[in-house]
Amino acid sequence: VPGPLEPLADAALGLARTTTAGRIALVAAREVVPAPLLPPRVAAVEPATAEPLPWPAVARVLRDAWGADPEDELDAIEREPAAVTPTGQVHRGVLDGAPVAVKVRRPGVAEVVRSDLRTLEVLAAPLRAVLPRIDAGRLLAEARERALDELDLEHEASAQRRLARAARGAEGLAVPAPVMRLSHPAVLVTAWAEGTPVADLAGAPAARREAAARALVRLHVGSAREALAHCDPHPRHALLAPDGAVALLDHGATRAVAPERVDRAVAALDALLDEDGASFGTALAALGWLPEEDGPAAAALAWDLAGDLLAGPAVLDVDALLAVRARAVARRDDVLALAARATLPPEDLLPLRMLGALVLVLAPLAVELDWPAAVRAAATRGFAQ
Ligand SMILES: Nc1ncnc2c1ncn2[C@@H]1O[C@H](COP(=O)(O)OP(=O)(O)OP(=O)(O)O)[C@@H](O)[C@H]1O
Ligand SMILES: [Mg+2]
Repeated sequence: VPGPLEPLADAALGLARTTTAGRIALVAAREVVPAPLLPPRVAAVEPATAEPLPWPAVARVLRDAWGADPEDELDAIEREPAAVTPTGQVHRGVLDGAPVAVKVRRPGVAEVVRSDLRTLEVLAAPLRAVLPRIDAGRLLAEARERALDELDLEHEASAQRRLARAARGAEGLAVPAPVMRLSHPAVLVTAWAEGTPVADLAGAPAARREAAARALVRLHVGSAREALAHCDPHPRHALLAPDGAVALLDHGATRAVAPERVDRAVAALDALLDEDGASFGTALAALGWLPEEDGPAAAALAWDLAGDLLAGPAVLDVDALLAVRARAVARRDDVLALAARATLPPEDLLPLRMLGALVLVLAPLAVELDWPAAVRAAATRGFAQ
């Protein structure tokens, strides 16, 4: 039965096929969403692989940024990139005897994405068909502003500095410190982090997978309590070191979060876990997500969809998420009925993207944990354990 979700999916896929910004988002989605959960139509779009920038082009970006030859500012820099992405690449270097990561923005990409962001407007009407009470204009404006932040590596440097300071002294967590003197809209230099990306941990011993999963929840959910949410969970943005510490990379997509909103989200979680629909409604209304009277129906639906994952220790894996999706499809009409009554304050857009992506990054680790308790602890204590 065609419903209001299909036109939205069509519009989003259209952007992914026809714009640079859409292709960048598609590449990220394919890396974050486990393959069995990728909608077939998304899986079918094969994005072009990013070509590495040749060294002379990288050297030019660095010279333009620093007004000096790269070798004058750094002890050394490798000419072959350590990583290549659609928006740029990362080179390994040495500064004051210590290894650093030098991230360079691909020339021209910021300009192209900035102009592509106007085309986000085509999502407004189909979005309103699913969520008629939202302010689609303000939500898309928020999406645009945060995407522009994400392209600006000087913005990223200041976000990363804040979270690096917050993580100092938090056992088991690390955020590589940026070198502010060398930061520029097109260049970011940070301490090099050693470790295995979460993407490569699927077959690791259970204790290592659990250490990574616990740290991911503390880093992402905890960052909201630290007042600057890191909203870009990705299987290559977290590195597990041999000693069990996890380093978090790529601080482009961050969002300032007011402590009151985290308090309200914790109150909503507590009410949900208590199966107290009335209090859940009060908390959701305080967040501005749903009218108070919808609390009991929303709580019942959440329990029906999430089931074991809310009830205590449970394995969060790809099969568990496929089961949640199957139950959501079975109760599609109830889900859409609640969506029709929901609102979303624009400031919550990125934090919600964070929670969604976090679940998707955690699933391949297949760890058994009391997830609501871990989330609650991080939302309450931040980076502290
Ligand atoms: N400090 C670091 N230490 C080790 N490896 C790093 C570091 N910074 C980046 N890398 C490597 O480079 C890859 C790409 O870095 P990052 O995700 O920050 O770039 P990006 O995705 O191009 O950024 P953006 O989302 O801002 O366009 C990482 O997944 C990681 O493998
Ligand atoms: Mg990245």
